[in-house]
Amino acid sequence: MKGIVLAGGAGTRLWPATRALSKQLLPVYDKPMIYYPISTLMSGGIREMLIITTPRDLCLFQDLLGDGAAWGVSFEYAVQDQPRGIADAFRVGEKFVSAERTALVLGDNLFLGQGLAGRIRAATASVEHATVFAYRVSDPQRYGVIEFDDSGAAVSIEEKPIAPKSDWAVTGLYIYRSDVVDIVAGLQPSERNELEITAVNQVYLDRSQLQVERLGRGVAWLDAGTHDSLLEAADLVQAVEHRQGVKLACPEEMALAWGWIDLEQVARLGRNMGGSTYAQYLSKIARTGGTPLELL
Ligand code: G1P
Repeated sequence: MKGIVLAGGAGTRLWPATRALSKQLLPVYDKPMIYYPISTLMSGGIREMLIITTPRDLCLFQDLLGDGAAWGVSFEYAVQDQPRGIADAFRVGEKFVSAERTALVLGDNLFLGQGLAGRIRAATASVEHATVFAYRVSDPQRYGVIEFDDSGAAVSIEEKPIAPKSDWAVTGLYIYRSDVVDIVAGLQPSERNELEITAVNQVYLDRSQLQVERLGRGVAWLDAGTHDSLLEAADLVQAVEHRQGVKLACPEEMALAWGWIDLEQVARLGRNMGGSTYAQYLSKIARTGGTPLELL
């Protein structure tokens, strides 16, 4: 199982903050935004990841994340020269996907909450279906929207509908079979000139191969793509971290829980993290052993 983090785009909704810097490098409270989607993939046991970014920001992501060895994972990089839509990730990442099932996560999406990791792991095990995750929102017209029948089966999916048929939004975490590459190759750009991920999901829905997992209120799904949502996400992370004395979306802790790195390596990474509270947290984990996988 492989994973793609889509961290391209011009981030215009956050200008001027993102005029000269990728949105996914902005902090969400105490760590770069991209740590969150990376941690989401890692929580599902995914170690091989492709980061798709812009030509301008590539070297910054490489500087931040390197080849992944420090976390016991592997990062490859690819460039999307123009924002051409989410589904374009499977055109840019075609070689990376090869014959593997692949999870795609949007670089500005935060998934917080216990239990999600197990559901990602279960979804990655299914070869029959593509899996998407739906979340109830107050503003469904901003998203891809799924309609369910009385038995809970998905019956329609629409991108940013003016009159949404439900308040269930499709989140930015998608798990596909390798045939997604062929589906994307056959897509035409939409009216907004993008290769729409909703069009991909529509193909799977038409083939009765789309599994929709509804996330309840035990999970928080946020996108941090606007000034307000970025601040809200940071506030939420701060509140939980203060209350529990933990750090959310800490890739080092995730890697330790999976056994991909050892305590000594966590201590080493902590020593290289300056005088931050993040450094203190890594040192604490190195002493105490961190959180077990089932509680992350
Ligand atoms: C995109 C997708 C949409 C999905 C959303 C999740 O929207 O097109 O289906 O619900 O991501 O964040 P966009 O970011 O293009 O507005």
